[in-house]
Amino acid sequence: MALRVIQWATGNQGVEAIRALALRDDLELVGGWVSSDAKDGCDLGEIAGIEPLGVAATQDVDALLALGADCVVYAPRIASLDVVCRILASGANVVTTAFLFHPASLPAADRERLEAACREGGTSIHGTGLNPGVLSGVLPLALSSMSRRVDRVVLQERADWSFYESTHITFDNMRFGQPAAEVTEEASEFLRFNSGIFQEVVALVATALGAELDEITTDVELVDAVEDHDVFGTTLHAGTVAGQRWHWRGLRDGEVLVEIETLWTVGGEYPTHWPRPLDGWTLTIEGDPSFRTHTMVLASFERPEPIAEHVRAASIATVMAAVNAIAPTCAAPPGLATMATVGLVHATTGFTRPT
Ligand SMILES: NC(=O)c1ccc[n+]([C@@H]2O[C@H](COP(=O)([O-])OP(=O)(O)OC[C@H]3O[C@@H](n4cnc5c(N)ncnc54)[C@H](OP(=O)(O)O)[C@@H]3O)[C@@H](O)[C@H]2O)c1
Repeated sequence: MALRVIQWATGNQGVEAIRALALRDDLELVGGWVSSDAKDGCDLGEIAGIEPLGVAATQDVDALLALGADCVVYAPRIASLDVVCRILASGANVVTTAFLFHPASLPAADRERLEAACREGGTSIHGTGLNPGVLSGVLPLALSSMSRRVDRVVLQERADWSFYESTHITFDNMRFGQPAAEVTEEASEFLRFNSGIFQEVVALVATALGAELDEITTDVELVDAVEDHDVFGTTLHAGTVAGQRWHWRGLRDGEVLVEIETLWTVGGEYPTHWPRPLDGWTLTIEGDPSFRTHTMVLASFERPEPIAEHVRAASIATVMAAVNAIAPTCAAPPGLATMATVGLVHATTGFTRPT
């Protein structure tokens, strides 16, 4: 029996999930939520740019929950704990790329609501993705399986957001193109939220590795653009933020045990005083022994592909981490199924012959 799945939001990631679900025998797409009025009632396949699938998108949450689906792939731009609790309480499991990477870190009242919703519905919630996700949560833990001792885990993410077409996220949410005073952890609900999800992954890794952290800190260094830049029709003006170097650090006795660092730029300028890792994610585990691995996510290392396809690859990877976690999440005992507890998530149809 195929697991019945609802796709929640059809943005960059949502459409990639639909394209994947359309090809799966073990997963059946039975519904889709959209925020946009223009997409309400449209066929999910057409929204995803493939053949019609005979499943219409809707904004009607009650109608979706009445479908009795096994799982929701929850990938909206703005995540809502209220909505996720409703879904879980209705009896549908949730895999999400948007938040809830380590729900144990949530304020107690939120965590208790989440757990109560899981109990009510007999369901599980699993947060995953690329980063926060597999590269910051699963990979360090997988490598640690070869360790006698772990001293420090550092993940460095280098990305040029100029190629990320979701300018809402780049400019509105992440506040590139604004004065530096507008870009702090406390400057907006989104930035506080965004900081929180990276802190959650620090907590996930630290907890799984037995660190009893005293604190998790956040800092950001901002770099202004020297010149104006056009980014998908939006101008990033000289003198506004074009570089964001965030650090989320888990400390014990003043020592950094787990760190996530971002080297994010928009517009093509690169601060001369920043480190220059390869684009992508560099994970270093210092310990006995020590490991370093670099991950690039591209459309192909063999075929020539336009830059847009390479950028799209990151959205595919992010949401496939969730899609491939549907079955393990549905099979998990009700409650919080984190990257550290859900077991090894892997593709099950990777080498399947195309039909
Ligand atoms: N874990 C990771 O590695 C990772 C990496 C990148 C991004 N993310 C997160 O993953 C999620 C999806 O990313 P994406 O690139 O697919 O985002 P996106 O394309 O910018 O937006 C996703 C969709 O959210 C819906 N939406 C728009 N405004 C909304 C609002 N105010 N409230 C709720 N939903 C709204 C829209 O759905 P419709 O078009 O269907 O109306 C939109 O297409 C975001 O939360 C993002 O922050 C996670």
